Amino acid sequence: MAKVTSVIDIGSNSARMAIFRKTSRFGFHLIHEIKSKVRISEGCYENGGMLQEIPMQRALSAIKEFLDIAKSYKTTKIFCVATSAVRDAPNAKEFLARVKKECALSIKVIDGQKEAFYGGVACANLLHKKNGITIDIGGGSTECAFIQDGKITDLISLNVGTIRIKELFFDKRNDIEGAKAYIQNELAKIPKHYHHDSVFGIGGTIRAVAKMLIKHTQYPLNRIHGYEFNPKEHKKLFDKITTSPLHKLQSLPIPQDRLDTITSGVLIFASFLEHLGAKEVITSGVGVREGVFLADLLRNQHYQFPSGFNPSVASLQERFSLQKKYSNALKSLTLELFDTLAPSHKCGEKLRYLLGIAAYLSPIGTILNFYQTNLHGAYILLNGLEYGFSHADRELIALLIEYSDKKIPKLAPILESHMPPLPQIQWLSFILGLAQCLLKARNTRSKITLECEHIGENTHLYIRSTHSLYLAREYLPRLQKPTSKLFIEMG
Ligand code: LMR
Ligand code: MG
Repeated sequence: MAKVTSVIDIGSNSARMAIFRKTSRFGFHLIHEIKSKVRISEGCYENGGMLQEIPMQRALSAIKEFLDIAKSYKTTKIFCVATSAVRDAPNAKEFLARVKKECALSIKVIDGQKEAFYGGVACANLLHKKNGITIDIGGGSTECAFIQDGKITDLISLNVGTIRIKELFFDKRNDIEGAKAYIQNELAKIPKHYHHDSVFGIGGTIRAVAKMLIKHTQYPLNRIHGYEFNPKEHKKLFDKITTSPLHKLQSLPIPQDRLDTITSGVLIFASFLEHLGAKEVITSGVGVREGVFLADLLRNQHYQFPSGFNPSVASLQERFSLQKKYSNALKSLTLELFDTLAPSHKCGEKLRYLLGIAAYLSPIGTILNFYQTNLHGAYILLNGLEYGFSHADRELIALLIEYSDKKIPKLAPILESHMPPLPQIQWLSFILGLAQCLLKARNTRSKITLECEHIGENTHLYIRSTHSLYLAREYLPRLQKPTSKLFIEMG
């Protein structure tokens, strides 16, 4: 498949382009993203769905520049999809012909099911939870995909969207009751089994809501993708947004370009959440564009990555690792230490998985500078493990690496509540530090054997090697032991 792929999504509100670069068969990362407030649907809802001249011109201008950007990134494959407004427009053909003529680009108009599917594929593969229902709120329509164990089992599209509701109910009069009735009427079309504790939130509106909540709650990690919240805790704020006049909304941290659609957006969002019975929202930074890219990448894979594969882990390793052999050796020794010491640290499978990733990727910090490799590695992973990890997982992996030879500091209360207990983190971090220490003098670990004895409260770890452990013995006292009841002997 192509190395650089560009995907353009002509949504009813904004047009966006994302550019993805592959680092291997399935490893990839985002290298560019741009949006324009084209609002192709503007004025169409009171004109029988007809696309209007000025919005079409905005679309053409944006597409032309998108294509220049795509070209400058040496794009080898390009997809362009259009959703609700174009799909419903009686004059869509005219618009598509103009784009074809002026930009030499063929737009694929996708139906609501396909649109729901792309959002579903993106969330199922790139978020850390594998069960839930997506809500993708657009300018003209809203899509849901039912995801069970990472597989899409059901799709639906409704003609409810931010611009549609704004133009039909808010622009000429402030008919909130009319808007609510319209939304309820559409919601009634959703089959009964669409009910779930977990909702994946897609699209500009939900991202704006997440940004606002991150500020509002002083949440410590300023990242949209994977941000989780309980909608019931913010009901008051949502009500305030749907009932306040525009000038009052300005005091809230709502992005400027969302101000005029946030009322209808939050109204739609809150109505869907209530209808589906959602108890938690997992915000998605990915949507139709990533879905289009993945549907192509994974077309022979039932739209799923191979089991155990994570695209962020792969692409970080492929971009930044200087010694793959060392990464593998460090990971296997770390996990062997974890297993040998299991009766003492009592950490489970999930933590073993995260520790394995921390070990495997911890050396990549050297790409920036050998000095403080762990610090650089922690930063790169916190910011680079974008897909498939919760914020807490990312924080934990970064902590394990940064403090592998130090005492873990006391965590901020908001972080602490999402983390394993501090003594367990200290154990994991120490295990990584010990593995790093043992591999000081060599980058393969074939000759190291481990044995553990538990005598009363004490743990005795015997490390033997056919090679000399001269340097390791010297470095060992610098590590922060998780307990004074751990004794290590190197032979
Ligand atoms: C869409 O209409 O799907 C997007 O433009 C979403 C948005 O609100 O920007
Ligand atoms: Mg959309």
